[in-house]
Amino acid sequence: MDEIAEPLRGVNALVTGASGGIGGATAELLVDRGATVYLTDVDDDAGRARAARLGPGAHYRRLDVTAESDWAAVVSEMRWAGHPPNVLVNSAGTAMKAALENTTLEQFRTMIDQHLVGTFLALRTAATAMREGGAVVTVSSLRGVLATAELGAYGAAKFGVRALTKVAALELAQRGIRVNSVCPGSVATEITASAGFANDDIDAYVRSIPMRRRGTPAEVAGVIAFLACADSAYMTGADLLVDGGISAGVHTPKKQTQKA
Ligand SMILES: NC(=O)c1ccc[n+]([C@@H]2O[C@H](COP(=O)([O-])OP(=O)(O)OC[C@H]3O[C@@H](n4cnc5c(N)ncnc54)[C@H](O)[C@@H]3O)[C@@H](O)[C@H]2O)c1
Repeated sequence: MDEIAEPLRGVNALVTGASGGIGGATAELLVDRGATVYLTDVDDDAGRARAARLGPGAHYRRLDVTAESDWAAVVSEMRWAGHPPNVLVNSAGTAMKAALENTTLEQFRTMIDQHLVGTFLALRTAATAMREGGAVVTVSSLRGVLATAELGAYGAAKFGVRALTKVAALELAQRGIRVNSVCPGSVATEITASAGFANDDIDAYVRSIPMRRRGTPAEVAGVIAFLACADSAYMTGADLLVDGGISAGVHTPKKQTQKA
């Protein structure tokens, strides 16, 4: 295989949430491009199955992003195996939807733990484990750019993910480590399967997206891979929206004309 076919040969990537939609598609794309990928998640069965399918470039390890000891264990294992991480993609987490008055403190803390504490531990891990040339991609959300009713806990955590990402970009730039985030709009994965989303009118929402469709995990993975590789060598501290144009602005609706 040559460098063009496998542009990520020599890259060792740690991907969290890799049993899921976006993390899984990212792991697949990185392996496809020649990287050695440690898929991590708390859903062990799905993660192991995916890693087995991806072949010798893929390894599954359990890593709960909220557990400091799990981060330390996986990174030390990667180093020990001769694969010190030079790419880190943090895609783990769930979502919950409820108005603030109906959100319990426990639910709020769960969102902050998974997304914000998880990102903090990812960035601190990168800061301590990565050398020059490293790249971190955090996964925020359109909901971390535009406040969204009933997504208070999730949105607060995702706004925080972008803030931490930029702080890490500032702190790590001189060491040659880049840190960027992607902000997906609506992507059909398991994350929206929880009860709070059951009453959403997805068709109406899709009509409000300029591109008139939801994104796919592979479309987000492509942007993550771009931020992880040298094609984005002069980018750090950026947020890339992958949202079909919904954050670009407002389209003034036309008057409905009655047809005779
Ligand atoms: N799907 C969307 O519409 C969308 C939009 C914007 C942002 N995002 C973000 O993208 C990321 C990936 O979401 P997805 O759509 O692939 O969802 P998903 O449910 O398919 O995948 C999420 C994965 O995270 C894992 N996970 C949950 N808690 C964890 C923990 N504590 N430690 C480790 N793993 C954990 C789950 O087991 C699952 O495999 C999330 O951060 C999500 O907030 C998704």
